[in-house]
Amino acid sequence: MLADKRILLIIGGGIAAFKSLDLIRRLREQGATVVPVLTKAGEEFVTPLSASALAAKKVYRELFDLTDEAEMGHIELSRAADLVVVAPATADLMAKMAHGHANDLASTLLMATDKRVLIAPAMNVRMWDHPATQRNLATLQGDGVLVVGPDEGAMACGEFGPGRMAEVPAIVAAIGAALAEGPLKGKHVLVTSGPTHEPIDPVRYIANRSSGAQGTALAEALRDLGARVSFVTGPASVPPPAGVEVIRVETAREMAEAVKAALPADAAVFAAAVADWRVANAAGQKMKKDGTGSLPALEFAENPDILAGVAQMAEGRPRLVVGFAAETETVEAHATAKRLRKGCDWIVANDVSPGTGIMGGAENAVTLITGDGAEAWPRLSKAETARRLALRIAGALA
Ligand code: C5P
Repeated sequence: MLADKRILLIIGGGIAAFKSLDLIRRLREQGATVVPVLTKAGEEFVTPLSASALAAKKVYRELFDLTDEAEMGHIELSRAADLVVVAPATADLMAKMAHGHANDLASTLLMATDKRVLIAPAMNVRMWDHPATQRNLATLQGDGVLVVGPDEGAMACGEFGPGRMAEVPAIVAAIGAALAEGPLKGKHVLVTSGPTHEPIDPVRYIANRSSGAQGTALAEALRDLGARVSFVTGPASVPPPAGVEVIRVETAREMAEAVKAALPADAAVFAAAVADWRVANAAGQKMKKDGTGSLPALEFAENPDILAGVAQMAEGRPRLVVGFAAETETVEAHATAKRLRKGCDWIVANDVSPGTGIMGGAENAVTLITGDGAEAWPRLSKAETARRLALRIAGALA
Protein backbone atom coordinates (compact mmCIF):
# COMPACT_ATOMS: atom_id res chain seq x y z
CA MET A 1 0.00 0.00 0.00
CA LEU A 2 2.84 2.39 0.80
CA ALA A 3 5.36 0.95 -1.66
CA ASP A 4 8.02 3.47 -2.71
CA LYS A 5 6.65 6.14 -0.36
CA ARG A 6 9.19 8.03 1.69
CA ILE A 7 8.10 9.21 5.11
CA LEU A 8 10.01 11.66 7.25
CA LEU A 9 9.06 10.70 10.80
CA ILE A 10 9.67 13.32 13.48
CA ILE A 11 9.62 11.73 16.92
CA GLY A 12 8.84 14.24 19.66
CA GLY A 13 9.47 13.89 23.37
CA GLY A 14 6.59 12.07 24.99
CA ILE A 15 6.00 8.71 26.58
CA ALA A 16 4.11 7.72 23.39
CA ALA A 17 7.43 7.84 21.50
CA PHE A 18 7.86 4.12 22.16
CA LYS A 19 4.86 3.51 19.87
CA SER A 20 6.71 5.36 17.10
CA LEU A 21 9.25 2.54 16.99
CA ASP A 22 6.43 0.15 16.22
CA LEU A 23 5.11 2.69 13.67
CA ILE A 24 8.46 2.51 11.85
CA ARG A 25 8.14 -1.30 11.65
CA ARG A 26 4.55 -1.23 10.40
CA LEU A 27 5.31 1.39 7.76
CA ARG A 28 8.28 -0.61 6.50
CA GLU A 29 6.16 -3.75 6.34
CA GLN A 30 3.92 -1.83 3.91
CA GLY A 31 6.87 -0.98 1.71
CA ALA A 32 7.55 2.58 2.90
CA THR A 33 10.97 4.05 3.56
CA VAL A 34 11.08 5.80 6.93
CA VAL A 35 13.64 8.49 7.70
CA PRO A 36 13.55 9.18 11.45
CA VAL A 37 14.26 12.55 13.03
CA LEU A 38 14.56 12.73 16.81
CA THR A 39 14.02 15.90 18.78
CA LYS A 40 16.19 16.47 21.86
CA ALA A 41 13.22 15.58 24.06
CA GLY A 42 12.46 12.57 21.84
CA GLU A 43 15.91 11.20 22.63
CA GLU A 44 14.94 11.06 26.29
CA PHE A 45 12.30 8.46 25.42
CA VAL A 46 13.78 6.42 22.57
CA THR A 47 17.40 6.00 21.59
CA PRO A 48 18.73 7.03 18.18
CA LEU A 49 20.13 3.52 17.86
CA SER A 50 16.74 1.80 18.16
CA ALA A 51 15.08 4.23 15.69
CA SER A 52 17.98 3.78 13.27
CA ALA A 53 18.02 -0.03 13.60
CA LEU A 54 14.29 -0.34 12.97
CA ALA A 55 14.31 2.11 10.05
CA ALA A 56 17.59 0.75 8.64
CA LYS A 57 18.39 4.42 8.03
CA LYS A 58 20.49 7.12 9.55
CA VAL A 59 18.67 9.04 12.28
CA TYR A 60 18.82 12.84 11.97
CA ARG A 61 19.15 14.82 15.19
CA GLU A 62 21.07 18.05 14.82
CA LEU A 63 20.41 21.10 12.66
CA PHE A 64 24.02 22.13 12.59
CA ASP A 65 25.54 18.74 11.95
CA LEU A 66 27.99 19.55 9.17
CA THR A 67 28.21 15.95 8.01
CA ASP A 68 24.48 15.91 7.49
CA GLU A 69 24.59 19.22 5.62
CA ALA A 70 27.35 17.83 3.38
CA GLU A 71 25.36 14.66 2.69
CA MET A 72 21.88 16.12 2.58
CA GLY A 73 20.88 19.61 3.71
CA HIS A 74 17.84 20.21 5.84
CA ILE A 75 15.87 21.72 2.95
CA GLU A 76 16.47 18.67 0.80
CA LEU A 77 15.75 16.32 3.70
CA SER A 78 12.36 17.97 4.23
CA ARG A 79 11.46 17.84 0.55
CA ALA A 80 12.72 14.39 -0.39
CA ALA A 81 9.82 12.97 1.64
CA ASP A 82 6.35 12.26 0.28
CA LEU A 83 4.83 13.03 3.67
CA VAL A 84 6.09 14.44 6.96
CA VAL A 85 4.67 12.71 10.03
CA VAL A 86 5.06 14.04 13.57
CA ALA A 87 4.45 11.29 16.15
CA PRO A 88 4.17 11.97 18.96
CA ALA A 89 3.34 15.62 18.36
CA THR A 90 3.80 17.19 21.78
CA ALA A 91 2.15 20.42 22.93
CA ASP A 92 5.52 22.11 22.49
CA LEU A 93 6.01 20.86 18.93
CA MET A 94 2.47 21.91 18.00
CA ALA A 95 3.11 25.38 19.44
CA LYS A 96 6.35 25.69 17.50
CA MET A 97 4.64 24.62 14.29
CA ALA A 98 1.70 26.98 14.81
CA HIS A 99 4.03 29.93 15.42
CA GLY A 100 6.63 29.11 12.79
CA HIS A 101 9.63 28.55 15.08
CA ALA A 102 12.70 27.05 13.45
CA ASN A 103 15.22 26.66 16.25
CA ASP A 104 16.07 22.97 15.98
CA LEU A 105 16.18 20.36 13.24
CA ALA A 106 12.57 19.13 13.62
CA SER A 107 10.96 22.59 13.60
CA THR A 108 13.21 23.76 10.74
CA LEU A 109 12.24 20.75 8.64
CA LEU A 110 8.57 21.48 9.33
CA MET A 111 9.02 25.07 8.18
CA ALA A 112 11.06 24.14 5.10
CA THR A 113 8.95 21.32 3.75
CA ASP A 114 6.71 21.68 0.72
CA LYS A 115 4.95 18.39 1.52
CA ARG A 116 1.86 17.66 3.56
CA VAL A 117 2.29 17.21 7.30
CA LEU A 118 0.36 14.75 9.47
CA ILE A 119 0.54 15.06 13.25
CA ALA A 120 -0.40 12.50 15.91
CA PRO A 121 -0.78 14.62 19.06
CA ALA A 122 0.02 13.06 22.44
CA MET A 123 -0.01 14.88 25.76
CA ASN A 124 -1.63 15.12 29.16
CA VAL A 125 -5.38 15.74 28.97
CA ARG A 126 -5.11 19.20 30.62
CA MET A 127 -2.43 20.20 28.15
CA TRP A 128 -4.61 19.00 25.25
CA ASP A 129 -7.66 20.87 26.56
CA HIS A 130 -5.67 24.05 27.26
CA PRO A 131 -6.93 26.97 25.15
CA ALA A 132 -3.39 27.54 23.87
CA THR A 133 -3.17 23.99 22.46
CA GLN A 134 -6.67 24.21 21.01
CA ARG A 135 -5.76 27.56 19.41
CA ASN A 136 -2.61 26.02 17.95
CA LEU A 137 -4.59 23.03 16.69
CA ALA A 138 -7.04 25.32 14.89
CA THR A 139 -4.15 27.28 13.37
CA LEU A 140 -2.45 24.11 12.16
CA GLN A 141 -5.65 22.73 10.66
CA GLY A 142 -6.17 26.05 8.91
CA ASP A 143 -2.66 25.64 7.47
CA GLY A 144 -3.69 22.30 5.98
CA VAL A 145 -1.93 20.12 8.58
CA LEU A 146 -3.63 16.71 8.92
CA VAL A 147 -4.36 15.38 12.38
CA VAL A 148 -4.91 11.82 13.64
CA GLY A 149 -6.13 11.39 17.22
CA PRO A 150 -5.59 11.89 20.05
CA ASP A 151 -7.58 9.03 21.59
CA GLU A 152 -9.41 9.12 24.86
CA GLY A 153 -8.40 6.79 27.66
CA ALA A 154 -6.20 6.17 30.66
CA MET A 155 -2.89 7.99 30.36
CA ALA A 156 0.60 7.18 31.56
CA CYS A 157 0.33 10.14 33.98
CA GLY A 158 -2.68 8.51 35.69
CA GLU A 159 -5.32 10.88 34.33
CA PHE A 160 -8.14 10.00 31.94
CA GLY A 161 -9.34 11.83 28.84
CA PRO A 162 -8.28 12.83 25.34
CA GLY A 163 -4.52 13.01 24.87
CA ARG A 164 -3.30 9.49 24.19
CA MET A 165 -1.54 9.17 20.88
CA ALA A 166 -3.64 7.36 18.26
CA GLU A 167 -2.84 3.66 17.98
CA VAL A 168 -0.29 2.63 15.36
CA PRO A 169 -2.80 1.05 12.91
CA ALA A 170 -4.85 4.28 12.96
CA ILE A 171 -1.71 6.34 12.21
CA VAL A 172 -0.75 3.96 9.38
CA ALA A 173 -4.29 4.31 7.94
CA ALA A 174 -4.13 8.12 8.18
CA ILE A 175 -0.75 8.06 6.40
CA GLY A 176 -2.28 5.89 3.66
CA ALA A 177 -5.19 8.30 3.26
CA ALA A 178 -2.85 11.33 3.17
CA LEU A 179 -0.79 9.74 0.42
CA ALA A 180 -3.76 8.57 -1.64
CA GLU A 181 -3.86 10.43 -4.89
CA GLY A 182 -6.64 13.01 -5.07
CA PRO A 183 -8.85 13.30 -8.15
CA LEU A 184 -7.14 16.58 -9.13
CA LYS A 185 -3.61 15.18 -9.01
CA GLY A 186 -1.65 16.45 -11.99
CA LYS A 187 -4.12 19.28 -12.63
CA HIS A 188 -3.29 22.97 -12.41
CA VAL A 189 -6.07 25.23 -11.17
CA LEU A 190 -5.91 29.02 -11.06
CA VAL A 191 -7.96 30.85 -8.43
CA THR A 192 -8.40 34.62 -8.10
CA SER A 193 -9.51 35.92 -4.71
CA GLY A 194 -10.01 38.97 -2.52
CA PRO A 195 -10.75 42.57 -3.40
CA THR A 196 -8.66 44.87 -5.54
CA HIS A 197 -7.46 48.29 -4.41
CA GLU A 198 -7.62 51.07 -6.97
CA PRO A 199 -5.48 54.06 -5.98
CA ILE A 200 -6.89 57.59 -5.82
CA ASP A 201 -3.53 59.00 -4.76
CA PRO A 202 -0.51 57.39 -3.03
CA VAL A 203 -2.40 57.04 0.29
CA ARG A 204 -6.05 56.59 -0.69
CA TYR A 205 -7.77 53.86 -2.65
CA ILE A 206 -11.16 52.51 -3.67
CA ALA A 207 -11.87 49.02 -2.35
CA ASN A 208 -14.78 46.69 -1.60
CA ARG A 209 -15.88 44.50 1.29
CA SER A 210 -14.59 41.15 -0.04
CA SER A 211 -12.61 39.29 2.66
CA GLY A 212 -11.17 36.65 0.32
CA ALA A 213 -12.69 33.93 2.53
CA GLN A 214 -14.52 32.04 -0.24
CA GLY A 215 -11.59 32.12 -2.68
CA THR A 216 -9.21 30.99 0.07
CA ALA A 217 -11.50 28.11 1.08
CA LEU A 218 -11.78 27.10 -2.54
CA ALA A 219 -8.01 27.08 -3.05
CA GLU A 220 -7.68 24.90 0.07
CA ALA A 221 -10.35 22.47 -1.14
CA LEU A 222 -8.73 22.20 -4.58
CA ARG A 223 -5.32 21.67 -2.96
CA ASP A 224 -6.80 18.94 -0.75
CA LEU A 225 -8.03 17.10 -3.85
CA GLY A 226 -4.46 17.07 -5.15
CA ALA A 227 -4.47 20.06 -7.52
CA ARG A 228 -1.52 22.37 -8.02
CA VAL A 229 -3.09 25.73 -7.23
CA SER A 230 -1.99 29.19 -8.35
CA PHE A 231 -3.69 31.67 -6.04
CA VAL A 232 -3.78 35.24 -7.32
CA THR A 233 -5.02 37.41 -4.48
CA GLY A 234 -5.77 41.06 -3.91
CA PRO A 235 -5.28 42.58 -0.43
CA ALA A 236 -7.59 40.15 1.43
CA SER A 237 -8.30 40.17 5.15
CA VAL A 238 -7.93 36.39 5.59
CA PRO A 239 -4.44 34.91 5.15
CA PRO A 240 -3.77 32.91 1.97
CA PRO A 241 -3.74 29.10 2.22
CA ALA A 242 -0.60 27.06 2.81
CA GLY A 243 0.57 24.66 0.15
CA VAL A 244 -0.42 26.75 -2.86
CA GLU A 245 1.49 29.25 -4.99
CA VAL A 246 0.47 32.70 -3.74
CA ILE A 247 0.73 35.67 -6.12
CA ARG A 248 -0.15 38.95 -4.41
CA VAL A 249 -1.50 41.87 -6.39
CA GLU A 250 -3.21 45.14 -5.60
CA THR A 251 -5.04 46.50 -8.63
CA ALA A 252 -7.27 44.89 -11.25
CA ARG A 253 -4.67 45.50 -13.93
CA GLU A 254 -2.00 43.77 -11.83
CA MET A 255 -4.42 40.88 -11.29
CA ALA A 256 -4.99 40.58 -15.04
CA GLU A 257 -1.22 40.43 -15.64
CA ALA A 258 -0.70 37.85 -12.88
CA VAL A 259 -3.49 35.66 -14.26
CA LYS A 260 -1.96 35.79 -17.73
CA ALA A 261 1.42 34.80 -16.31
CA ALA A 262 -0.05 31.89 -14.31
CA LEU A 263 -1.70 30.28 -17.37
CA PRO A 264 -1.95 27.65 -18.80
CA ALA A 265 -4.28 25.93 -16.36
CA ASP A 266 -6.75 23.08 -16.57
CA ALA A 267 -9.37 25.16 -14.77
CA ALA A 268 -9.64 28.78 -13.65
CA VAL A 269 -11.96 30.03 -10.94
CA PHE A 270 -12.52 33.76 -10.58
CA ALA A 271 -13.62 34.39 -7.02
CA ALA A 272 -12.02 37.84 -6.74
CA ALA A 273 -14.22 40.91 -6.29
CA VAL A 274 -12.47 42.95 -8.94
CA ALA A 275 -13.15 46.69 -9.07
CA ASP A 276 -15.01 47.46 -12.27
CA TRP A 277 -13.48 50.90 -12.49
CA ARG A 278 -10.18 52.49 -11.59
CA VAL A 279 -9.49 56.17 -11.04
CA ALA A 280 -8.24 57.48 -14.36
CA ASN A 281 -6.88 60.69 -12.89
CA ALA A 282 -5.18 59.20 -9.80
CA ALA A 283 -2.84 61.80 -8.32
CA GLY A 284 0.91 61.19 -8.12
CA GLN A 285 1.09 63.08 -4.81
CA LYS A 286 -1.31 63.07 -1.85
CA MET A 287 -4.29 65.25 -2.72
CA LYS A 288 -4.69 68.28 -0.43
CA LYS A 289 -7.58 70.52 0.55
CA ASP A 290 -6.83 73.88 -1.03
CA GLY A 291 -8.88 75.92 1.46
CA THR A 292 -11.32 77.18 -1.14
CA GLY A 293 -13.92 74.47 -0.46
CA SER A 294 -13.60 73.11 -3.99
CA LEU A 295 -13.99 69.30 -4.22
CA PRO A 296 -11.78 67.00 -6.26
CA ALA A 297 -13.49 65.33 -9.21
CA LEU A 298 -12.56 61.69 -9.78
CA GLU A 299 -12.68 60.40 -13.30
CA PHE A 300 -13.09 56.69 -13.89
CA ALA A 301 -11.85 54.25 -16.50
CA GLU A 302 -13.10 50.70 -16.93
CA ASN A 303 -10.87 47.89 -15.73
CA PRO A 304 -10.19 44.85 -17.91
CA ASP A 305 -12.70 42.05 -17.31
CA ILE A 306 -10.26 39.30 -16.34
CA LEU A 307 -12.83 36.50 -16.32
CA ALA A 308 -14.28 37.42 -19.73
CA GLY A 309 -10.78 37.77 -21.15
CA VAL A 310 -9.81 34.23 -20.12
CA ALA A 311 -13.22 32.71 -20.97
CA GLN A 312 -12.96 34.11 -24.49
CA MET A 313 -9.33 33.25 -25.18
CA ALA A 314 -8.94 31.97 -28.72
CA GLU A 315 -6.02 29.75 -27.75
CA GLY A 316 -4.99 28.13 -24.49
CA ARG A 317 -8.34 28.61 -22.75
CA PRO A 318 -8.60 26.53 -19.56
CA ARG A 319 -10.97 23.61 -20.07
CA LEU A 320 -13.23 24.90 -17.31
CA VAL A 321 -13.73 28.59 -16.56
CA VAL A 322 -15.82 29.45 -13.51
CA GLY A 323 -16.97 32.92 -12.51
CA PHE A 324 -18.72 34.25 -9.43
CA ALA A 325 -21.65 36.64 -9.47
CA ALA A 326 -22.29 38.66 -6.36
CA GLU A 327 -25.73 40.16 -6.80
CA THR A 328 -28.17 41.95 -4.55
CA GLU A 329 -31.37 41.28 -6.54
CA THR A 330 -32.83 38.78 -9.06
CA VAL A 331 -29.69 36.72 -8.54
CA GLU A 332 -30.43 33.80 -10.84
CA ALA A 333 -31.56 35.83 -13.82
CA HIS A 334 -28.58 38.19 -13.58
CA ALA A 335 -26.14 35.33 -13.14
CA THR A 336 -27.56 33.34 -16.05
CA ALA A 337 -27.20 36.36 -18.31
CA LYS A 338 -23.68 36.96 -16.97
CA ARG A 339 -22.61 33.39 -17.85
CA LEU A 340 -23.51 33.95 -21.46
CA ARG A 341 -22.15 37.50 -21.64
CA LYS A 342 -18.77 36.55 -20.22
CA GLY A 343 -18.49 33.22 -22.03
CA CYS A 344 -17.59 31.19 -18.93
CA ASP A 345 -18.76 27.61 -18.32
CA TRP A 346 -20.21 28.03 -14.84
CA ILE A 347 -21.26 30.89 -12.63
CA VAL A 348 -21.43 30.57 -8.87
CA ALA A 349 -24.07 33.12 -7.93
CA ASN A 350 -24.76 34.48 -4.48
CA ASP A 351 -26.93 37.09 -2.88
CA VAL A 352 -24.73 39.60 -1.09
CA SER A 353 -27.52 41.88 0.12
CA PRO A 354 -26.58 43.37 3.52
CA GLY A 355 -29.22 41.26 5.32
CA THR A 356 -27.65 37.95 4.25
CA GLY A 357 -24.35 38.50 6.11
CA ILE A 358 -22.58 36.64 3.28
CA MET A 359 -20.05 39.24 2.19
CA GLY A 360 -17.27 38.98 4.76
CA GLY A 361 -19.20 36.29 6.71
CA ALA A 362 -18.47 32.60 7.34
CA GLU A 363 -21.37 31.15 5.34
CA ASN A 364 -22.54 31.20 1.78
CA ALA A 365 -25.71 30.23 -0.07
CA VAL A 366 -24.95 29.81 -3.75
CA THR A 367 -26.72 28.88 -6.94
CA LEU A 368 -24.56 27.04 -9.45
CA ILE A 369 -25.42 28.05 -13.00
CA THR A 370 -24.14 25.71 -15.70
CA GLY A 371 -25.14 25.04 -19.31
CA ASP A 372 -27.71 22.63 -17.87
CA GLY A 373 -29.52 25.18 -15.73
CA ALA A 374 -29.49 26.48 -12.15
CA GLU A 375 -28.93 24.47 -8.95
CA ALA A 376 -29.65 26.17 -5.63
CA TRP A 377 -27.36 24.85 -2.88
CA PRO A 378 -28.33 25.10 0.80
CA ARG A 379 -26.73 27.69 3.08
CA LEU A 380 -23.38 26.12 4.05
CA SER A 381 -20.08 27.21 5.56
CA LYS A 382 -17.75 28.72 2.97
CA ALA A 383 -15.45 25.72 3.57
CA GLU A 384 -18.23 23.24 2.75
CA THR A 385 -19.36 25.27 -0.27
CA ALA A 386 -15.74 25.18 -1.43
CA ARG A 387 -15.46 21.40 -0.93
CA ARG A 388 -18.58 20.77 -2.99
CA LEU A 389 -17.46 23.09 -5.73
CA ALA A 390 -13.97 21.52 -5.80
CA LEU A 391 -15.54 18.07 -6.18
CA ARG A 392 -17.67 19.34 -9.07
CA ILE A 393 -14.57 20.82 -10.70
CA ALA A 394 -12.78 17.47 -10.27
CA GLY A 395 -15.76 15.75 -11.90
CA ALA A 396 -15.70 18.15 -14.86
CA LEU A 397 -11.96 17.66 -15.43
CA ALA A 398 -12.04 13.87 -15.05
O1 C5P B 1 -19.34 41.61 -13.86
P1 C5P B 1 -19.15 41.16 -12.46
O2 C5P B 1 -18.11 41.93 -11.69
O3 C5P B 1 -20.40 40.98 -11.68
O4 C5P B 1 -18.55 39.66 -12.64
C1 C5P B 1 -18.14 38.92 -11.55
C2 C5P B 1 -17.21 37.85 -12.02
O5 C5P B 1 -16.27 38.36 -12.95
C3 C5P B 1 -16.35 37.31 -10.90
O6 C5P B 1 -16.03 35.97 -11.20
C4 C5P B 1 -15.13 38.21 -10.94
O7 C5P B 1 -14.00 37.58 -10.35
C5 C5P B 1 -14.96 38.42 -12.42
N1 C5P B 1 -14.40 39.72 -12.79
C6 C5P B 1 -13.14 39.79 -13.33
N2 C5P B 1 -12.63 41.00 -13.74
C7 C5P B 1 -13.36 42.14 -13.61
C8 C5P B 1 -14.65 42.07 -13.08
C9 C5P B 1 -15.13 40.86 -12.67
O8 C5P B 1 -12.47 38.76 -13.44
N3 C5P B 1 -12.83 43.27 -14.01
